[in-house]
Amino acid sequence: MHSFRYTDGSLMCEGVDLESLAAEVGTPAYVYSSETIRNNYRRLDAALAPLGDRMICYAMKANSNLSVLNLLAKEGAGFDIVSGGELFRVLKAGGRADRCTFAGVGKTAAEIDYALRQGIYSFNIESEEELERINEVAGKAGLVAPIAVRVNPDVDAPTHKYISTGKSKNKFGIGLDRAAEVYARAASLPNLRIRGLQTHIGSQILKAPPFAEAVRKLTPLVLELKAKHGLEFFSVGGGVGIVYRGALASGDVAWWTGSGEETAERITPEEYASEVIGPLKELGLRILFEPGRFIVGNAGVLLTTVLYRKETPTKKFVVVDAGMNDLIRPALYEGHHEIEPLRQPENTATEKVDVVGPVCESGDFFAQDREVPPLAPGDRIALMSAGAYGFVMSSTYNARPLLPEVLVEGTKSTVVRARQTWEDLIRGEVVPS
Ligand code: LLP
Repeated sequence: MHSFRYTDGSLMCEGVDLESLAAEVGTPAYVYSSETIRNNYRRLDAALAPLGDRMICYAMKANSNLSVLNLLAKEGAGFDIVSGGELFRVLKAGGRADRCTFAGVGKTAAEIDYALRQGIYSFNIESEEELERINEVAGKAGLVAPIAVRVNPDVDAPTHKYISTGKSKNKFGIGLDRAAEVYARAASLPNLRIRGLQTHIGSQILKAPPFAEAVRKLTPLVLELKAKHGLEFFSVGGGVGIVYRGALASGDVAWWTGSGEETAERITPEEYASEVIGPLKELGLRILFEPGRFIVGNAGVLLTTVLYRKETPTKKFVVVDAGMNDLIRPALYEGHHEIEPLRQPENTATEKVDVVGPVCESGDFFAQDREVPPLAPGDRIALMSAGAYGFVMSSTYNARPLLPEVLVEGTKSTVVRARQTWEDLIRGEVVPS
């Protein structure tokens, strides 16, 4: 469920009229719905409740605004982090280090040291060299590092090739064939404590069976490690997909009901849970989940204003004030984001256009050959489902300041990150004398 819908022709986020909000804070701007984030978290947690001992570690790479982290920390979430900077954010937002798992193939000694001293729950080890490095850093600090090995189950999960991670050709994790040996090595190192096993098969996965297959493939190893090394947890990673294609215009806004090929598939938290709970429950371990996109994806939109229209003999272009530097998913993954006018047009006419940004790249588009309502300069639109991997992947390319982020709660909206200024853009730069 998400909380964006038309009321009397105005696109609302909870109780806030997005057109008025856009006029107030300017565009482009990201807007997030607290209610949607909270509902998604609670719905997933409820679906997983039959497991008993469980921890949802929100994959904060999806959206790491302090207000979002704070909201989830209050719900009881832990966090899946991938850098020292992310841990710093968690702590600033009121989250707890002892509910953080630290993933990523390239942790530096300084990041390991920082996370150790803060007392994180577990390091997810991605390579044998990293195991040695963490042991060394922990030894120097006089601490013992809790670890889990990320094991690659070699499962094919249907998704975009850039976000599939569970195959042996990917850079992530350690192969199933090597895992027992790596655990034996970990057990022999004095400054490590084996705590868990972790896996993750990819992102934006819309089918439940691959998740269950990964669990099935890893079960014998998990049970062996539990007996040998007293394993405490099994983290099954994130990856539950959301529906991007679907129309508010269809009138059904309770869920992205969708149309077109992508939406022939969708996964609900209940379907996901029913597929994995059985095999996981039998393990008798604490189970960790690392959802990112599912929690925040449908909870955010990017508001943008039409600047110009332009026609060539073969195409109609609508130029907007947001660019690929603000939302890179269409350019990088051919990601689809629905386009909804903030003021609903009176009739249902559409025209086929490319919606493009101002950046000097042909990849700077939000839609190509898409049927959208007629859009004129000054009209404002929302790029839907932009709450995950939106702002966090933005850059200042073309010297474009980073966007503001606004959090809505009922009828209240708060700018939770100010728009950057040109002065912000040059802060820290010097011209040598
Ligand atoms: N755990 C690990 C170890 C991960 O690598 C990721 C995502 C997650 C959890 C969270 O996955 P989620 O539940 O969000 O699918 N920028 C891309 C997605 C990259 C995902 C990277 N890893 C996009 O915009 O589609």
